[in-house]
Amino acid sequence: MKRQVRKAVFPVAGLGTRFLPATKASPKEMLPIVDKPLIQYAVEEAVAAGVDTLIFIIGRTKNAIADHFDKAYELEAELEARHKTDLLKVVRGIVPNGVECVYIRQAEALGLGHAVLCARPAVGEEPFAVILADDLIEESRQEGGVMSQMTRHFNKYQCSILGVERVPITESDKYGIVHPLPFATRLSNVDGIIEKPKPEKAPSDLAVVGRYILTSRIFDLLTNIPRGAGNEIQLTDGIAALLNEEQVLAYEFTGRRHDCGNKLGYLVATVEYGLRHPELGEQFQAYLQSYGCQFGDFTRPVED
Ligand code: G1P
Repeated sequence: MKRQVRKAVFPVAGLGTRFLPATKASPKEMLPIVDKPLIQYAVEEAVAAGVDTLIFIIGRTKNAIADHFDKAYELEAELEARHKTDLLKVVRGIVPNGVECVYIRQAEALGLGHAVLCARPAVGEEPFAVILADDLIEESRQEGGVMSQMTRHFNKYQCSILGVERVPITESDKYGIVHPLPFATRLSNVDGIIEKPKPEKAPSDLAVVGRYILTSRIFDLLTNIPRGAGNEIQLTDGIAALLNEEQVLAYEFTGRRHDCGNKLGYLVATVEYGLRHPELGEQFQAYLQSYGCQFGDFTRPVED
């Protein structure tokens, strides 16, 4: 029987040091882009791809994420009493019916590979998605969200798939970089992968950007790998071991990515989502135009 991706892991236990003091008491994934936290965009992308179990790997700032996805009885009663039906719908729709949330504590910040390994008891033997919410990727009009695009390929090929994007080679040391062998349109067989190589050591300009579908074999491998770059247990090193045993594909997705893990990328995303916001877009554009800014068509996301 063909396997399907039903579970998604969201590592949200990072220290978020780049955004201090905003991230002192809540994780960077709770930073809003206009009116929705980054983690909610990620969850919506997963649910649209057919995921029904959301596994959050939480850390020091554990409450904010769980509170966001929990039922909020008092708030709902208050909105109901004030007849704010639209807002009530927004609050109640954060976790759709039939979708379950699981929270697992990562006691020590030992790296992304370790965070993913913490999900093992909740994932079991199934294939699963990993989404890094600070890579915000706009949905493509034709192809849908990145995770939907990736699960479509998983349904066909039944192997691990990494979401990749071409980056300037000077930035190779910010990413996991794959060595690709041609396979099909937008798909390559991953022949090697290195975490944050210097440009001269980078096997290509194809970077993994926060979207993974992995088979459960990765857990055994993550248990055994030594600490890697930054003295952390790296997911990339687990994947390097996985591709010695199983097929791993790299998929060049359609959709514009915003690196919301850094302040400039976060601001750019805020401006672009603000300009496209159904209630605020026009007013925001007029405001920026009053400073002499000029715009093309910002009402829709740019397609690749
Ligand atoms: C992590 C991964 C890296 C990946 C990147 C994508 O790095 O370790 O392989 O390319 O996410 O955003 P981080 O950004 O957490 O340093």
